[in-house]
Amino acid sequence: MSEVRSLIGKISMVTGGSGDIGRAIARRLAMSGSTVVVTYEGAEDRAEQTLKEIGDEGGKSTKIQLDQRDPGSIEAAVKSIEDQFGQLDILVNNAAWNIGIPFPELEKLTPEIWDRVLETNLRAPFLLARSAASLLREGGGHIVNISSAGGITPGSSSIAYSSSKAGLNHLTRCLAVAMAPDVAVNCVAPGLVEDTRMANRLPEAVSNGARRQAILGRVGQVADIAEQVLTFVTSTSVTGQTMVVDGGLPAAMR
Ligand SMILES: NC(=O)c1ccc[n+]([C@@H]2O[C@H](COP(=O)([O-])OP(=O)(O)OC[C@H]3O[C@@H](n4cnc5c(N)ncnc54)[C@H](OP(=O)(O)O)[C@@H]3O)[C@@H](O)[C@H]2O)c1
Repeated sequence: MSEVRSLIGKISMVTGGSGDIGRAIARRLAMSGSTVVVTYEGAEDRAEQTLKEIGDEGGKSTKIQLDQRDPGSIEAAVKSIEDQFGQLDILVNNAAWNIGIPFPELEKLTPEIWDRVLETNLRAPFLLARSAASLLREGGGHIVNISSAGGITPGSSSIAYSSSKAGLNHLTRCLAVAMAPDVAVNCVAPGLVEDTRMANRLPEAVSNGARRQAILGRVGQVADIAEQVLTFVTSTSVTGQTMVVDGGLPAAMR
């Protein structure tokens, strides 16, 4: 069957393309015709693997090192895309950092951990949008933020993570207003995503709870997240929205 939602001629940047969900998103966008710039922080080998899988599927991609806690690194990454391609149509703010700290253990959530989580998961998506704004505006672009169901209900790996993702959900709405009418800004909020390293860092009670409560009898898979990203970036009439992809947890139905 031919791909009806074509991204031929588009340039996409997927942060955290060395990660499990980022890889699936990068592959899906490349399969739809986009050239994909995959970023990694430390795991260059995993970014290479993403490029290899895209190449094996007949897609085009390249990689850039990015530490998104560093505003200079963000500027440099976007500049290098501009120099290389002269355009950027799709920004997927997927990269994030977490650590499992049960909510009641307040003492364990230090200022250093709080800052690392908030800088990576909330400040960086804003700075990336800011750096990429003029390129995205030129072509009528899209931003998709990858948040978490933990940004809607008070749960997930830590209070800092849950708060960072709640902030990202609202940043989506703020940027949608700020960047209209040229750029659509939307958000995918996964619940537990099976077979990912991040899910493995969740306290077991949290992941088992998500599996038990998913009314569709299954939680999300990486391909489900990638498919929702593709839906957003091929839509021309949706902005400011957060779509939860979690197998149907009643608590995240807002
Ligand atoms: N997995 C789940 O169950 C789940 C559930 C809800 C939401 N999510 C969200 O889905 C997204 C992807 O998660 P995942 O499961 O694919 O996680 P993952 O496999 O741990 O990947 C995280 C990615 O973020 C990158 N990263 C971390 N710190 C960074 C920094 N300072 N600068 C730049 N990049 C950095 C990592 O780069 P390196 O590996 O190269 O260091 C990696 O590519 C995240 O936003 C996460 O919050 C995941």
